[in-house]
Amino acid sequence: MNRVKGKTVLITGASSGIGLSCANIFASQGAKLVLLARREKRLEKVKKKLEEDYKVEVRIFQVDVCNREDVINWSEKLEKEGIEPDVLINNAGLASGLSKLHEGDFADWDRMIDTNLKGFLNISRVILPKMVEKNSGHVVNIGSIAGHMVYPAGNVYCATKFAVRALNEAMNIDLYGTNVKVSSIDPGAVETEFSRVRFKGDLKRAEKVYEGFTPLKAEDIADAVFYVVNTPEHVNIQDLVIMPTAQRNPYLLYREGQEQN
Ligand SMILES: NC(=O)c1ccc[n+]([C@@H]2O[C@H](COP(=O)([O-])OP(=O)(O)OC[C@H]3O[C@@H](n4cnc5c(N)ncnc54)[C@H](OP(=O)(O)O)[C@@H]3O)[C@@H](O)[C@H]2O)c1
Repeated sequence: MNRVKGKTVLITGASSGIGLSCANIFASQGAKLVLLARREKRLEKVKKKLEEDYKVEVRIFQVDVCNREDVINWSEKLEKEGIEPDVLINNAGLASGLSKLHEGDFADWDRMIDTNLKGFLNISRVILPKMVEKNSGHVVNIGSIAGHMVYPAGNVYCATKFAVRALNEAMNIDLYGTNVKVSSIDPGAVETEFSRVRFKGDLKRAEKVYEGFTPLKAEDIADAVFYVVNTPEHVNIQDLVIMPTAQRNPYLLYREGQEQN
């Protein structure tokens, strides 16, 4: 049964990876899309393709989720245009660098905290009130297994994803008594632009992350997001942890041809 047809789905970080795959699956099922990211050219291409392939309405907005003023202005624009998202997929996020805390880079920390935590809050704060007012809606937070267990040198990234897990729980508590659903999807290793971003364009280092095992694909996560959103009104999946079969926790990853710990 398709419960998303005609609904408006807002996806942050829709220019690549998991967000882009979510845009694809929801468009293929007849949802209207509102897509956000900083890279406008990418969003333009996505819009063109989805509108051609699926004949659905796709609105795109160049918004940096970290910029609170821009987020507020953008949300006022949405309201003026009468766009009311039924589903919010809080996906925009990144890791920046990988170093021990005592060797960490302040700029990397700020980037991760500003995007994964403050950006997440900025978007949630402007979108949730309408859902509460209408007494319906669904927020899907893209967390991580890094929010369940800290891995070596993952310190600040893990802390932001622990925070996302806490906020997923907090949203569920704060929305008690309403029909607004809140879910977290917590992936293990997914092959996207994530590692390229983490290692600042060092492709060799990024590719190494996915060597010797079959990582999750962005589509695997989008399938799960779709499943969670498509559940009946009375079903609220609060947290879903998904890892590649080769991975059993954030750092226990079986790689063929390599000496295992
Ligand atoms: N890949 C993994 O292994 C993995 C595992 C667990 C969780 N996750 C989480 O999954 C989410 C998506 O990551 P991904 O793997 O799909 O990586 P990705 O391919 O790098 O996608 C990240 C998306 O976030 C957007 N973004 C980043 N900063 C933004 C900002 N300030 N404002 C607006 N958009 C912003 C990027 O778009 P622009 O650059 O165009 O703005 C891009 O569309 C993240 O929250 C990440 O933490 C990933």
